Amino acid sequence: MKTWIIFSCSTFIYIIFGLSPCSPPKETAELPDVVSQHPAAANYALYCAGCHGRNLEKFADKAWMSDNSKDAIIKSIKFGLSVDGMPAFEKTFSDEEIKSLADFVQKGIPKDKSQLKKPDTKNPIVSSEEFKFVVDTVVSGLKVPWGLVFLPGGDMLISERAGTLNRYSNGKLSAPIEGLPAILARGQGGLLDLCLHPKYAENGWIYISYSSPAKDGSGDSNTAIMRARLKGNQLTDQQTIFEALPMVSTQHHYGSKMAFDREGYLYFGVGDRGEHFEFPQELNNHNGKIHRIKDDGSIPEDNPFVKTKGAMPSIFSYGHRNPQGTAMHPETGEIWESEHGPKGGDELNLIKPGLNYGWPVISYGINYNGTVLTKLTEKKVWNNLFSIGNLLLLHVE
Ligand code: HEC
Repeated sequence: MKTWIIFSCSTFIYIIFGLSPCSPPKETAELPDVVSQHPAAANYALYCAGCHGRNLEKFADKAWMSDNSKDAIIKSIKFGLSVDGMPAFEKTFSDEEIKSLADFVQKGIPKDKSQLKKPDTKNPIVSSEEFKFVVDTVVSGLKVPWGLVFLPGGDMLISERAGTLNRYSNGKLSAPIEGLPAILARGQGGLLDLCLHPKYAENGWIYISYSSPAKDGSGDSNTAIMRARLKGNQLTDQQTIFEALPMVSTQHHYGSKMAFDREGYLYFGVGDRGEHFEFPQELNNHNGKIHRIKDDGSIPEDNPFVKTKGAMPSIFSYGHRNPQGTAMHPETGEIWESEHGPKGGDELNLIKPGLNYGWPVISYGINYNGTVLTKLTEKKVWNNLFSIGNLLLLHVE
C-alpha cells in the first residue's frame, strides 16, 4: 500500500511518499552573521525559535516589521498577546534583554519579506529515520490549509483556516464551496478539520469542525462540528452535531482533528482554550477533553462519564491541553492523539476511556516564557469517578 502523509504549511500543500535513498535536505538560509552574533541570539534560540522559527521564518509579514519604532515589538514581547497565544516575557527578561530581543527580531527580518514564510523546496528528497520521501508542491496559494480529505474519486477537499472550503479536482481548485456555518476566523480559530463518514460512499456525510462564534455577538467562541452533504458546489443537509461549552473569549487551543473508529464512533479533541486551571481537570465542561460521539452527535451509552453527575457525557478522556491530532491506528484500531503541549511538553497519547492525562497537574514541559507550571511528571490519585475506586496512575504516555 502506498503511504500518503500530508504536511501543510502556510502557502503550500505537500504530498509525501516513500522513495529511494538520497542526501538529507539543506537547512534554510542561515541568519546573516550580524544577527547570529547578536547578544540576544541565544535568548531568541532558546525562547522564541520554537514558535517563530530558527531564522525568524515563521513571522508573518506585518506592519510593525517596517516600522522603525520598536515600541510595538517591545510591548508584544513584554506583555504577550494572550488571545493569539504569544506568551508574556516580563518575568523572564529584564527590560534591557527585551529591548535587545526586539532589536534582534527587527535586524533578522530580510528585506524581501516573502522569504519569511517560504518553505524549502529546493532539495525535495528528505530522509527520516524510517523513510526517504519526496516533497512535491501540489496546491499553492492556500492560506493556512488545516484539514484535508480525499473523496472516493480522488478529488481533495481542503479547508483553509480563514474560512474557505475548497475542492481540488483535475489539477485545479474550484470556486469555494458554499453553505458553511458561521465561523470565527481569528487567532488559532477558524475553519478546522474535515473527515468523511466511514460509509461516505453510501451516506455522503462530511464532518467539518470549526470555531463557532457565540450567537450573542460577544466575540466568544468554541469548537463545533457540523455534518453536511456535498451537492455540486453546495453543502446541504447541514446539521450541527456538537458545540463545545462554555464559549470563551480566548482565540487559541481549539484542538479539533477528528477520527472515526472501527465501530463508527467519532473522536475529537477540544483544547483547554488557554484556561488550564479552569477546564481540563473538571468534567462539567467540554474544554481540554477528548470526546466520543455517535455519527449523528448522540452519546454512546458506554461513554465513561455518562453516569457521573454533572459531567459532560461526550467526554472520553480528560486533562488535555491542546489535542490537535486524532487518528485511528490502522492495524489495532486504537485511537491516538497528539497534543500540543507547553514548551518541551508535547505528547503522543494512546487514548483510553475515562483516563486523566494530567494537564496541568503533570507535564514534561514548562511555560513558554520559561517559568515552571508543575514539577510533576506523574501522580497517583484515587479516582473516585470509578465505582470501585481504582488506584490510577496518571502519566504521560
Ligand atoms: C508559544 C509560541 C510563541 C513563543 C514561544 C513566542 N511567540 Fe511571539 N508570537 C506568537 C504568536 C502566536 C504571535 C501572534 C501571531 C504573529 O504575529 O505571528 C506572536 C507575535 C510576536 C510578535 C509580533 C507582535 C505584533 O505586535 O504583531 C513579536 C515581535 C514576537 N512574537 C516576538 C517574540 C519573541 C522575541 C519571542 C521570544 C522571547 C517570542 N515571540 C516567543 C507565539 C510565540
